[in-house]
Amino acid sequence: MKFSQWTLLALPAMATAFPGMAGSRSQMEAYLRAEIEREQLQKREAEPQILNPVGTLLGALGNTISGLLNSVGQAIVVKSNLRPEPNFEFRAPGSGDSRGPCPALNLLANHGYLPRNGYVNQGQVIEATARGFNMGTDLSTILTVFAILSSGDIDGLSFYLGSGKNGIGGLNRHSTVEADISPNREDYYNGCGDNHHLSSRLVKQMVNFAKDDPKKEFSFDVMAKHYAKHADFSKANNPFLYYFPFPQIVSVVAFNFYPAFFSNGTYGAGGVANYKSIMSIIGAEYDQSSGEFKYVPERWPENWYRRATPYGAVQGLTEGFTLIYPRNIVVPGVPQIGTPNLSVQTVLCDIYQGINSVTPLILGGALEQTSKAAAWALSVLDPILSKTALGCPDSVLSPNLLFPQSTREGGPQTPPRVPSDANTGNNVYNKIYFRNDPRSPQCNPSSN
Ligand code: HEM
Ligand SMILES: *[C@@H]1O[C@H](CO)[C@@H](O)[C@H](O)[C@H]1NC(C)=O
Ligand SMILES: *[C@@H]1O[C@H](CO)[C@@H](O)[C@H](O)[C@H]1NC(C)=O
Repeated sequence: MKFSQWTLLALPAMATAFPGMAGSRSQMEAYLRAEIEREQLQKREAEPQILNPVGTLLGALGNTISGLLNSVGQAIVVKSNLRPEPNFEFRAPGSGDSRGPCPALNLLANHGYLPRNGYVNQGQVIEATARGFNMGTDLSTILTVFAILSSGDIDGLSFYLGSGKNGIGGLNRHSTVEADISPNREDYYNGCGDNHHLSSRLVKQMVNFAKDDPKKEFSFDVMAKHYAKHADFSKANNPFLYYFPFPQIVSVVAFNFYPAFFSNGTYGAGGVANYKSIMSIIGAEYDQSSGEFKYVPERWPENWYRRATPYGAVQGLTEGFTLIYPRNIVVPGVPQIGTPNLSVQTVLCDIYQGINSVTPLILGGALEQTSKAAAWALSVLDPILSKTALGCPDSVLSPNLLFPQSTREGGPQTPPRVPSDANTGNNVYNKIYFRNDPRSPQCNPSSN
């Protein structure tokens, strides 16, 4: 790849990257603070509903699960979408294989849709996520661009699914694409660096919400309640919660990815977000003797059908930011969230404008490296975001608006220190992690 060429292409966008939006910022902050207060009031009123089901029912989890297991539902499926296809057999990862926080990418590697060693490049990921789950290529392009920028290798356009070479980079890297408040991973700080193993206590929480769902499904509503409770927990117990735009977006949309991608069939068009499909895909296996969830390698269940239509950036962000995020607003990182001005265009354009702030993280600040990475990213995202109907303005790129206090500890430039770095390697399976809420760094996340 010739970077001088990319650099030239993206020069106009880069030249206008820093004019700032200082004038409207304080106004916007005041507005957002009021919005947050309003949300919190609303939430307090809704609290009994949201908080009651979990906790009291944990003892009965065995029954809960046998009830959920039986709910296969009457899924409408398209035969040709049966996955895996022939010759994509499941094989558990070996000790040298890289696996991390993304269950879908882990699964695709376990089935050979991605290199089984977990060292992947952008083209492979865009193809595999479309073929395996029908992710729209606009969405996979955006995700991979940020993964490469923040956690990967710009020259090979590649990254590790878990921990990078010598522990540097990889999707495990915190506060870049990997974020706090994930569906079933603990926050980096409270997990003592373990932000990538499936957390038993979070799965228990999620399953209890599904149990109370009228159709016993992992619906948007179930995932929104699960999100709201985890966000409350992080606000109360994670002093380094730093929820800035890109990871925030990934964390929020990951909740709606559960029904949208892991359902049997097309969710919203006859697909069913049942226990059997979802638990197998995320590698959660109920352990009768302990009443906990063991983390096993991600795999497709028998007779599983992927969604029939692509699910891309516009739908994903719309659903994430209208159905999930409003249940518990964390931080006004994306300025329009919680305001009547939210549209998918504004959120996507915020992503586009965030490029300049994410970029310096990875590359240790070397100016030449940084500009070549930014140039590459803008040239790839431009056709999707700027040159389409979305028409993001490149004249307002401003990291200062989007990343207040980005150097604060816990922020993207200064990840929180954790007491141990023993928990940052690739995933180790067939264990139970986090039986209880980690209210302070829990440095021995696994038992047995
Ligand atoms: C296209 C490239 C992709 C990249 C770079 C990527 C990256 C990531 C990362 C870094 C995380 C951790 C986020 C966090 O800490 O909250 C994550 C989580 C997640 N990803 Fe992906 N992902 C990709 C594709 C997909 C696809 C295709 C799906 C669904 C089919 C998916 C579903 C999820 C889910 C559900 C989670 C949340 C896991 C949990 O906590 O339960 N991802 N992904
Ligand atoms: C998916 O739906 C089909 C058709 O209803 C059904 O035969 C199959 O058992 C379901 N698979 C799972 C994993 O729920
Ligand atoms: C929302 O848009 C209106 C009209 O364009 C504008 O007056 C207002 O300041 C905007 N609010 C925020 C929070 O951006």
